[in-house]
Amino acid sequence: MVNTNTPETIPTDQLVSCLISLPADIRKTLDETDEPIDILRGIVFGKESEFARLSQSIRFVPKEDKQRVGIVLNQVKQSLEALISEKSHTHTFAGADWMDVTAPGIQPPQGHLHIVTQAIGEITAIFNKLGFTRVRHPEVDWDWYPFESLNMPHSHPASDEWETFYITYPGKPGKEYKKQKIVLTPHTSNGQVREMEKGILPIRMINIAKCYRRQIDISHTPMFHQFEGLYIDKNVSIGHLKGVLDYFAKSFFGKDRTTRIRPFHFQFTEPSFEVDISCGICGGTGKLKNKSKCRLCKEGWLELGGAGMVHPVVLANGNIDTELYNGFAFGWGVERTYMMKAGTGLDDIRNLYSNDVRFLEQF
Ligand code: FA5
Repeated sequence: MVNTNTPETIPTDQLVSCLISLPADIRKTLDETDEPIDILRGIVFGKESEFARLSQSIRFVPKEDKQRVGIVLNQVKQSLEALISEKSHTHTFAGADWMDVTAPGIQPPQGHLHIVTQAIGEITAIFNKLGFTRVRHPEVDWDWYPFESLNMPHSHPASDEWETFYITYPGKPGKEYKKQKIVLTPHTSNGQVREMEKGILPIRMINIAKCYRRQIDISHTPMFHQFEGLYIDKNVSIGHLKGVLDYFAKSFFGKDRTTRIRPFHFQFTEPSFEVDISCGICGGTGKLKNKSKCRLCKEGWLELGGAGMVHPVVLANGNIDTELYNGFAFGWGVERTYMMKAGTGLDDIRNLYSNDVRFLEQF
């Protein structure tokens, strides 16, 4: 059985017949040996084996016969594998009646938290340091909370931009049904009046939840997360808001990133702002090293979200005395905020939800 020859030219028919008779020869060898399984493998498939010699000879086979010989070779290989497997199940090998209990075990693969969950933890910790407490409000809500309670009268065009998913009312219409339709909340601002309704002042909430909008492209997903800050107290000013935004930006992004505030319009804040941060992919220039336009931001700035001083109508809807109290609110996207963090190199928000472990393992 042991091969002493180097590969050689064997006439095709002879090669096929040698291959076909090989399993029977190997069976005899296996029957006569008591060697452990890895030694048997070496005998059957090792460099010096008959199988190795015959398989190397295939390269001298004429082109037109190669396919036929290849098929036989594969079948014979499978038969030999089956013989080894059969032997390993039916025979106790010499030395196999003990096992090394000190041998190291096989480490099972370990998972970790999704990056969005990690980002939520980090955001919560930063706001906790400023005295904000994380709260939860419904992610499926009466549309009064995300719209009318926020000074957007029914059918007001301002609500169009939220591209909302409406869902069918699941039960019998009860008293609450009068509060209109049910939505998958398009923003965490639905938590503003809900938090005020608790009747506990001052308020320092950070509401982090899933939001839903009919949008999908490089910077939008139909399901995403927002974090909503709300601070209601006596004599709150824009200076306080700016201080909180700057503290967060410095803690989360690092000192090399800059922020800017632009005047904007939201129905539920007055005055209102849009908060931007310099892009971490192109360094705020809008252009990449090869001079092409940055795919993520285009102009060097990325929109983080909105902010402003809470509108008196909203405070009144939450039963807050507007003569005594005022406050600020802000709402940012968790995914976009995380993408803007230095070093993540994320240039397409949809990757976060592609569920590709090769991508997720990097974070
Ligand atoms: C709002 O949703 C306001 N509620 C924010 C606010 C709160 C303003 C409090 C004033 C006071 P806007 O529609 O711009 O605003 O969304 C805020 C952020 O959510 C966006 O800047 C973005 O970061 C994120 N966002 C919005 N839509 C999506 C989406 N489809 N996918 C991923 N992130 C999104």
